[in-house]
Amino acid sequence: MAIETMIDEATLSARVRELGAQIRSDYGPETSVHLVSVLKGAFMFMADLMRAIEGPVTCDFIALSSYEGRSSSGEVRLQKDLDYVLQQRDVIVVEDIVDSGRTLEYLRRNLATRRPRSLAVCALLDKVQRREVEVEVDLVGFVIPDRFVVGYGFDLDGLHRTLPDIHVLERDGAR
Ligand code: IMP
Ligand code: MG
Repeated sequence: MAIETMIDEATLSARVRELGAQIRSDYGPETSVHLVSVLKGAFMFMADLMRAIEGPVTCDFIALSSYEGRSSSGEVRLQKDLDYVLQQRDVIVVEDIVDSGRTLEYLRRNLATRRPRSLAVCALLDKVQRREVEVEVDLVGFVIPDRFVVGYGFDLDGLHRTLPDIHVLERDGAR
């Protein structure tokens, strides 16, 4: 299994700081933004993004599953729900990556029924070429090609999350 760097740590951290500054400027200095992170892939991104947003910010976690190995089963299931209600909150969903779009489409629909004041999505990576369902992503860190990535929270069957850079995994001609 060969490994190749796609986005290094310095580039990641610079972009995360830009996203944080962008969010604060979009919402204004007084607004408390409520980040909803999708476990587990997005928790490292969330931790860095949260600290890059100056001023009031809160967070919560939701866990969904559709992935086993490198491919999606297509069916999204809720594994752990949020702890807090979303009413009156300006909610930003923090996703690690948008691939087929199914996870995000499910999440947008599910969270919208809880009547947040506003609902936006910030994804670190976007595999635009893989999209199967149309879904709105408000802020994207990096658009990447159709390759399977690990590191900075991204895993393959639970492993490789702790790598500081984002890497492409190559395995016997697999994508
Ligand atoms: P979607 O529902 O197909 O958009 O899948 C999104 C989810 O698939 C992400 O939240 C990730 O958990 C997972 N995923 C998609 N591509 C990758 C990848 O290249 N590496 C690790 N996880 C991925
Ligand atoms: Mg995920």
